[in-house]
Amino acid sequence: MLLLGPVQHASAQEGFEAVQEQCVACHGTGVSATEDVPSLGGIDAYYALLQLVAFRSGNRAGDAMQALTAEMSDNDLRAAAAWVASLAPPPVPEAPPPADASAAEGLAQEHRCNTCHGADYRGGKQIPPLRNQREDYLRKALLDFSTEKRLGSRAAMVEVAQALSDAEIDLLARYLATLP
Ligand code: HEC
Ligand code: HEC
Repeated sequence: MLLLGPVQHASAQEGFEAVQEQCVACHGTGVSATEDVPSLGGIDAYYALLQLVAFRSGNRAGDAMQALTAEMSDNDLRAAAAWVASLAPPPVPEAPPPADASAAEGLAQEHRCNTCHGADYRGGKQIPPLRNQREDYLRKALLDFSTEKRLGSRAAMVEVAQALSDAEIDLLARYLATLP
């Protein structure tokens, strides 16, 4: 017979430490194995904090993230952002690159993705990395910007994403996810 009660946390755990296991359950430690859940490795603490605050205030959609951050103080969010920033960037996945990588590269250059996201897509202080992010999450994020479900801090991405067709979004997501 199974006698499993509620998970017992070490009594002294508070704030971010008390929820860190949940973060790991969805996001992994740097590399996400969950559909539509972003890998967090390589993200700067400042960008992470901006997003956590946006979830908490309801400015960014995401049921799980909104519910979790609603219970967190500013200091908890800072601790969470510092944890995110400590995670190593995701490795190159096994998935094959797009059949036409040069078309994808041309498209990225035409839309100047790398002027903001960094020459090698490793992101920056206020900018998320795109390199080796999950393909399904990249596609979802671009679609969320193009439909204005997600606006972002300065709405730059809405304009960028609305200029892309669905096929172009697919191509860019595969290209960025599999950058060697
Ligand atoms: C139930 C699953 C789940 C849990 C638990 C969870 N997340 Fe998330 N997280 C998500 C999803 C899904 C998104 C993407 C939301 C969207 O854009 O639709 C996300 C997005 C994020 C982002 C934004 C990443 C980016 O690239 O913009 C950060 C930062 C983040 N989570 C950190 C955390 C931290 C820290 C914890 C623990 C306190 C946590 N998450 C717990 C599912 C989860
Ligand atoms: C003018 C600067 C700029 C350009 C050009 C730009 N981006 Fe962005 N991008 C941003 C900013 C800023 C964010 C963060 C928005 C926010 O606050 O949520 C972002 C977010 C994203 C995200 C969400 C990542 C995540 O972790 O949630 C994706 C995907 C993305 N950009 C892809 C692209 C692609 C593909 C291109 C080229 C077609 C591009 N971007 C061009 C500034 C830019």
